[in-house]
Formats: sequence, C-alpha cells, structure tokens
Amino acid sequence: MAKRLDGRLLAARHEASLRSTIAQHLATAGCTSYPPGLVVVRVGDDPASGVYVRKKAQACGRVGIESRIIHHPATASQQEVLESIHQLNGDSSCHGILVQLPIPPTLNACQLLLAVDPSKDVDGLHPLNLGRLMRGEPGLRSCTPAGVMALLDHGGIALDGTRALVIGRSILVGQPLGIMLQQANATVTVAHSHTRNLADHCRQAELLVVAAGKPGLVGADWVRPGVVVVDVGIHRVPPQQPQQQGTQGTLRGDVCFSAVEPLASHITPVPGGVGPMTVAMLLSNTVQAWQRHTTVTPA
Ligand code: GUN
Repeated sequence: MAKRLDGRLLAARHEASLRSTIAQHLATAGCTSYPPGLVVVRVGDDPASGVYVRKKAQACGRVGIESRIIHHPATASQQEVLESIHQLNGDSSCHGILVQLPIPPTLNACQLLLAVDPSKDVDGLHPLNLGRLMRGEPGLRSCTPAGVMALLDHGGIALDGTRALVIGRSILVGQPLGIMLQQANATVTVAHSHTRNLADHCRQAELLVVAAGKPGLVGADWVRPGVVVVDVGIHRVPPQQPQQQGTQGTLRGDVCFSAVEPLASHITPVPGGVGPMTVAMLLSNTVQAWQRHTTVTPA
C-alpha cells in the first residue's frame, strides 16, 4: 500500500515557518514595513475560482499576510483590468499580485500577466520569471509545480535519473514542472492530448504527475508497481448515492485513487495533496516578494 504524500501536513509546516519569518522580518531594524500584502485580481464568476480565491485569502489570514480581492465583472474591458494591475504595481502595500485564471476568453490573458511587475509576480507566470526558471536562475516560481517539487522532496523521492511522465502541458503546471523535474535530473516526458499510446507511456513511468483535467483518467492498468503518483487534478463529482443528496458531492482527482493506491509506492490524495501545497507556495512567494521590497540595504 502506498505512502501518502500529505499536502495538508506539509503546508501547515510551511505556514508555521512563514509566520515566524514574518515576525522576524517585521522586528528587524530598518524594516520600514507594512505586513506582506497579496492582491488577487479576479475577472468574472468562474465558480471553482471563487473557491480557490477564498482558500487563498483564508490562508493569508492564518500567516499574517493582508489579502484583498479585486473582483471585476465578466464584462470588464481589457483596459479596466490593466488599470487595476498598473495601480497595484505602484502600490507599496501590495507585494504580490495574482491574476486568477481562467479569465473570460474575451480578454487577453497573456497581456494581463505581462503587465504584472515581475517582482510582484507571485504566480511566477510573467515571461521574465518563466525565463529565469528555464535558465535555472533564482526567481518567483509557479506555485503548483513548486508545491509538487516540495512534496516530492519532503517524501524523500529520489529524482536523479528517474523516468518521469507529466500528463498535461499547461503554462500553469505541466510546462514549468517539466523544467523543474529536468533540473532535478529526472528524464522527463510531457504528454498531452495528442500523445499516442498514453497508457504505454504511463506504464513506463517511475514518477507519474497527472495534470490532465480528466477525472479518473489513470487507473490500475496504467501504472507500474512501485510508481510515485502525484495527482494535480481536482473535480467536484455531484452526489451519486441517495445518502449524499443535499450535499455538494465529493472531490476527486485525475487518478482512480482506490485502484492505484495499492500499487504505488507513494501517492498524493485528492483533496489534501497538491492543492494545499499550491496555496503554501503562494504564501511563500508573497513573503519572499515582501522581504525583497521591504529590506533596506545600507547605503
Ligand atoms: N487557477 C487555478 N490555479 C491557479 C493558480 O495557481 N494561479 C492562477 N493565477 N490561477 C489559477
């Protein structure tokens, strides 16, 4: 039976460490400071985004980050959203800016991400930070891939020389994670909707990261015994059983957990795996950006 890579536990440890980092930095002579401030820019009413944004705000409250949400209607113009971002770039109480995705298809998401000051880009999605990642230079890293790497590290998973398969090539997860795994000396394949014989690729993998956005895609017959499985998917499944009626249903991932758990060596649960780590990495990036913005260097 697989060991669980427990994202809730690890995220709680990160939060404890961030609380003390904030207290120490605030107490440091020469720190002029506001507490760390994160602003989430949300456009439209994607229901899943509503849940994520609330979770981020709650987590900020737990560690002492002041958070705000700027919520534009789905009808907002590109110019209106750009103006919000420009204002936040110049706001010294805001150290981290996150443009919550997805945004309505009528807007140009790339242009919005490009408008964020790279030193406040706590999502790591500005081309400068993506370029730094690609070159292996220090910089703000995308939260979900950084969370996956932290979980693997905490689980003691050796990556050097490992055959890794990432399913999904999004800019939010698959692409940056593929680079991070390569930098940890894994041999990485990034599979996507045009990949032929996906099941065969899966069966070869010693590390399988699934960010396909397809509930239950990976079952027992797709994995080799001893595989390490990281499930990035999260889907709300409506109530199936009569006794669940009136509830919100359950959350499940891209992996059939009950079928794969007996075969894998390690596995992340959904919920409680990658999700809390994404939030923890966002907090960590915000504190890092705040420290940079508020550290007074001697003349
Ligand atoms: N939507 C779902 N996850 C994320 C995330 O990590 N960052 C942003 N900006 N949008 C998201």
